[in-house]
Amino acid sequence: EYNNKYISDEKIDRDIIDFNSGVPDLEKFPRSFWSKFLRYSFLDMPEYLLDYGRPQGLFDLRLTLSNFLLKTKGIKCYPDQIIILSGSSEGFLIIGKLLKPYYNNVIIEDLVYNGIQKIFKSLDIKFYPIPVDDKGIRSDLIPENIKNHFIIVTPSHQFPTGSVLPIQRRVKLIKLARNINTYIIENDYDSEFRYTGQQISSLHLLDPEIVIHIGTFSESLYPSLRLGYMVLPESLVKDCCKIKESCGLFTPSIYQLALSNFIKEGYFERHINKMKKLYKGKRKILIDKLKDEFKSSIKISGDSIGLYIVVEFKNVIFTDQILKKLLDNKVRVYRVEDHSIIKGKHNNKIILGYGNLGTGEIEEGIKRIKEILK
Ligand SMILES: Cc1ncc(COP(=O)(O)O)c(C=O)c1O
Repeated sequence: EYNNKYISDEKIDRDIIDFNSGVPDLEKFPRSFWSKFLRYSFLDMPEYLLDYGRPQGLFDLRLTLSNFLLKTKGIKCYPDQIIILSGSSEGFLIIGKLLKPYYNNVIIEDLVYNGIQKIFKSLDIKFYPIPVDDKGIRSDLIPENIKNHFIIVTPSHQFPTGSVLPIQRRVKLIKLARNINTYIIENDYDSEFRYTGQQISSLHLLDPEIVIHIGTFSESLYPSLRLGYMVLPESLVKDCCKIKESCGLFTPSIYQLALSNFIKEGYFERHINKMKKLYKGKRKILIDKLKDEFKSSIKISGDSIGLYIVVEFKNVIFTDQILKKLLDNKVRVYRVEDHSIIKGKHNNKIILGYGNLGTGEIEEGIKRIKEILK
């Protein structure tokens, strides 16, 4: 028995209702189950797993993932084609470092998660932004003879618009990448939570030779777990592992092993199914409340997958002052504009993440937004 108390220096204002898009329901995470997996995995694992381990990650988890990815996303791959990551962000960093000497530039969606922009900027990779619409990246706007570019896309659920890339655009993208002799990074951030429409299979299936598929457990489990994976052509694995090792980015073995067992014993699937029902309920309450408060002055999109929606306002510009006023009224929202490359086109849209909010908080949060925007 121990009696340690958690000491914090973080000033978190618990009265603020935060519509952050990247956080799942932390309260509903099955901590006691998970801690059993951690405990038993730790006690049972061979002693050598206390050593650094291999940068590629545990074979046990890679084997589990190769079966799991076939079942859930239709991805066919060998465990040797998988690298375990400490979150998908690490994958963007490793691939950026790997490709930069050959391709100095990236064809990138505009809009794109600003965390990815920061990673590529830190590597001095230049952007060739391509607009997105309600069907994802406008692949028809990519010049067919473009040179020295790799590509990054979010086909299953574009961030932040929430659109899904249709098969015609996928095929066009693959053909183009083949012609210009490059790689496509498929960022599959949150496709586990699909509420309507059919599951669209991964871009990876269309051409496993050139698509690097990156996934994460930040939304499906919890962000501080820092576990993700990438599936890549076998020819790239060795160099990626060298980069991971040279940066000291080893992923802790114990979490890998616990996750592998969690998936193998069926708890992961059960958890996703349970959470999907929960999120579906929250999503409905959010949309109903928005329609109730704002009627026809808003347009809602991106709501078929994931833990957020996008709301476009007819008569509001989300300036810094408006965000400050909202925050003073104890509600935090996120601008679509903050994920743009070419600035100035998305100032009237916000991202509302609902994963980590209770139903009462969602309703109260929208009420607080209305009080300021009325
Ligand atoms: C679209 C998108 N991709 C990737 C990430 C990074 O995820 P990870 O926690 O796996 O590094 C985020 C995080 O919010 C995201 O929104």
